[in-house]
Amino acid sequence: MVISENQIRKGETSARVQKTLQIAIDGPAGAGKSTVAKRVADALGYLYIDTGAMYRAATWLIIQKNIDLSDHSAIARAVAESKIELRPGDAEEKIHVFVNGVEVTKQIRSQNITKLVSPLAAIGAIREHLVNQQRQLAMTGGVVLDGRDIGTVVLPDANVKIFLTASPSVRAQRRLIELKSLGESADYETLLKDIVERDQRDTNREIAPLRMADDAVLILSDNMSVDDVVAHIIKLCA
Ligand code: DC
Repeated sequence: MVISENQIRKGETSARVQKTLQIAIDGPAGAGKSTVAKRVADALGYLYIDTGAMYRAATWLIIQKNIDLSDHSAIARAVAESKIELRPGDAEEKIHVFVNGVEVTKQIRSQNITKLVSPLAAIGAIREHLVNQQRQLAMTGGVVLDGRDIGTVVLPDANVKIFLTASPSVRAQRRLIELKSLGESADYETLLKDIVERDQRDTNREIAPLRMADDAVLILSDNMSVDDVVAHIIKLCA
């Protein structure tokens, strides 16, 4: 089945794709996963689940509760006792994130959280708890999850697995444009260094490292627009 780009509008392609697929989109920071995942979910009438936002929300909670970052059992307890919720958003705010009923959508994107989330996401007890939640959310299908370990650990039997990446320089350049459009100051060299460091930490951690699943489709988006990537994934679902 061939689906052209101009057919990829909200819900229009959903009739052509089973309602119950699980779609996993993994890849490194700044590859455009969340934009693409949200667009694919909207086009298919599926639920979008941003798993990175769940790790960010857990990080926000730990900072909020002033828990010592080396106290892994206190961290695990706080995360297990908390309620992290994702509620559907729109094109501008892809998803709304709540921790124990408090909206933290904007706060979890701060530079401080971005710096702390990677080491916290390497803690086994946090991962175990969030992975269970992610599996429950995905259970009925009709979902697009984006993250680092969706195709390898969370949903090893997902119907469609994508590994979306771009070269570090392209990702840093895209992030620079994004931050500038938000009126935030940033410089290319620092962004590039942060991206390379985050890639290294996410790829080399012991538990659920960033890795392409053997049965995933690799998409290198250096020379592709968001529309191109979305169209390519939807073709794979049909
Ligand atoms: O996609 P993001 O930048 O919002 O993710 C935030 C952090 O969470 C990132 O450092 C990697 C981690 N993460 C993870 O370990 N596993 C996931 N499934 C999603 C994100």
